Amino acid sequence: MSIQAPVRRITAPQIRARKGGDPIVSLTSYHAHTARLMDDHVDFILVGDSLGMVMHGMESTVPVTVDMMVMHGRAVMRGTRRALVVVDLPFGSYEGSPLEAFHTASRILKETGAGAVKLEGGKHMAETVRFLVDRGVPVMGHVGMTPQAINTLGSFKARGRDEGEADLILEDACAIAEAGAFALVVEAVAESLADRITQEVAIPTIGIGGSVRCDGQILVLEDMLGLSERVPKFVRKFADLGEQIEEAVVAYADEVRQRTFPGPENVYGAPAQKPAE
Ligand code: KIV
Repeated sequence: MSIQAPVRRITAPQIRARKGGDPIVSLTSYHAHTARLMDDHVDFILVGDSLGMVMHGMESTVPVTVDMMVMHGRAVMRGTRRALVVVDLPFGSYEGSPLEAFHTASRILKETGAGAVKLEGGKHMAETVRFLVDRGVPVMGHVGMTPQAINTLGSFKARGRDEGEADLILEDACAIAEAGAFALVVEAVAESLADRITQEVAIPTIGIGGSVRCDGQILVLEDMLGLSERVPKFVRKFADLGEQIEEAVVAYADEVRQRTFPGPENVYGAPAQKPAE
């Protein structure tokens, strides 16, 4: 093997090694510019299939395609140099068989340059996780409320709030961890269940509507910036950019109508005249 340039990005094994350590920080991003702003401050960036709803106005993540994930994954990679980038496998691109999952995951890793993929599901996806990991694909799992299953779940409400369902989700989490996933997103579950999962699995748990005791946290960027119309209970708004953007648009519209924009500083003068001979 020839000598390669050193890997400078955070890797999936480095995230895996953070179990029980300093909290892992992550956010979603779908574009080069927001990815660039967060690159120095987060450990990994998820190109989540939530982009279907957040960016494209879809009702759920079900219609999202592999082509969309590749396009947004590339944009995020172009905007970053440090954080691990993880790309979601979209609904319908991996559940059919481990081989189908490998084809989709390898295409995404090759065409985006991302360092890992994420897939949703519990026990029934464990064989697929093992298949991918054995073939060089780092996999992040996702249990609890799994948005791709909206049509069978019937709603985005929190899961695992009764003991029977909590036990099943715990079994799902253990199966995905034992199959070789390097980390596990735990979405919208009872806090006590997120705590049990965090204690029982040997890989970092990444909470989103989980517990402050998870090994890390993730939020959808647009939700925490105040750009989303409605957000779940587990979101804290760290800014109100939606309001600021609307104020800026109103100010711009006023200035255009009053002809105060563009101002003298925004226009180009005529080229200097050549002196007459
Ligand atoms: O698609 C997504 O943004 C996600 C996060 C909510 C974890 O899966």
